[in-house]
Amino acid sequence: MIIEDAVVLSNEQVYENGYVAWFQSEALAQGTEPGQFVMVHCSFDGADPFFARAFSYYKVDGDRFALLYASVGRGTRWLSQRVRGDVVRIYGPLGKGLRFPDERGNLLLIGGGVGVAPIVDMAERAVARGHSVVAMMGARTASALLPADEWPHEVEYVVVTEDGSAGPQGFVTDHLGEYQQWASRIYACGPNPMFESLANVLRHNGRRQRPEILMEENMPCGWGMCYGCAIFTRKGVKLCCKDGPRFQLFDVYG
Ligand SMILES: Cc1cc2nc3c(=O)[nH]c(=O)nc-3n(C[C@H](O)[C@H](O)[C@H](O)COP(=O)(O)OP(=O)(O)OC[C@H]3O[C@@H](n4cnc5c(N)ncnc54)[C@H](O)[C@@H]3O)c2cc1C
Ligand code: FES
Repeated sequence: MIIEDAVVLSNEQVYENGYVAWFQSEALAQGTEPGQFVMVHCSFDGADPFFARAFSYYKVDGDRFALLYASVGRGTRWLSQRVRGDVVRIYGPLGKGLRFPDERGNLLLIGGGVGVAPIVDMAERAVARGHSVVAMMGARTASALLPADEWPHEVEYVVVTEDGSAGPQGFVTDHLGEYQQWASRIYACGPNPMFESLANVLRHNGRRQRPEILMEENMPCGWGMCYGCAIFTRKGVKLCCKDGPRFQLFDVYG
């Protein structure tokens, strides 16, 4: 694990409450896996908020990396106010990332809300390895969807909204449709109710696709010291930060 004072290169709002911050840091950008995360100290003196906040890698490019984040509270509001040239203390890379299949395949990637962040990183790396990728994103409404131009152009991007303002109406897990049969592997990141629905949809004929999920439990430390992120799985109690955040869907929602 590396602790760095990373320099903010840019920090922009790209859609409703969705910000993308690019940082310069060779040490934090190199050797990462999709689904790994960093912990960001969202204050200058480390006093408030006291704990660093967890964010998945969204994009990685040489010695730069980006985070996609929603401004939901004190820490993320602070982060949204950083400007080019500011320095932010960050540690990582942390956790276990998603695993690619050995052979080229059809990958179905599913993102719920801001859980789409590591899904974009996964999509970029998957197309670079020659996989076919369909990325589905579910959001409350059209303005809360990640814009299409944030995805690699090789990806088929399918959107679902709860109010029907873009794509079919409902939850993303209601609309896997033909993509479920098409997929040789499935990966997902989003809120826990989305994983529960996904498990229900895939329980009977989706096990062969060995779905992997990224769990975003609250993480005070991020590296196995506080036990604040423990979850029950079929393989016993696991720490989301250290044993995950990647888990087999049916180990958690079996
Ligand atoms: C491994 C991991 C990866 C993550 N990746 C991203 C990402 O790429 N982009 C992103 O926007 N967010 C991500 N999150 C969630 C992010 O850590 C929280 O949004 C952040 O901690 C909120 O901090 P805050 O100080 O702004 O909000 P707070 O003031 O602490 O809380 C505001 C609200 O957010 C809820 N909240 C706080 N922390 C979390 C959390 N860890 N998970 C879920 N809800 C939380 C609180 O219950 C409260 O309702 C990730 C979390 C984890 C554990
Ligand atoms: S966040 Fe502290 S042990 Fe996982």
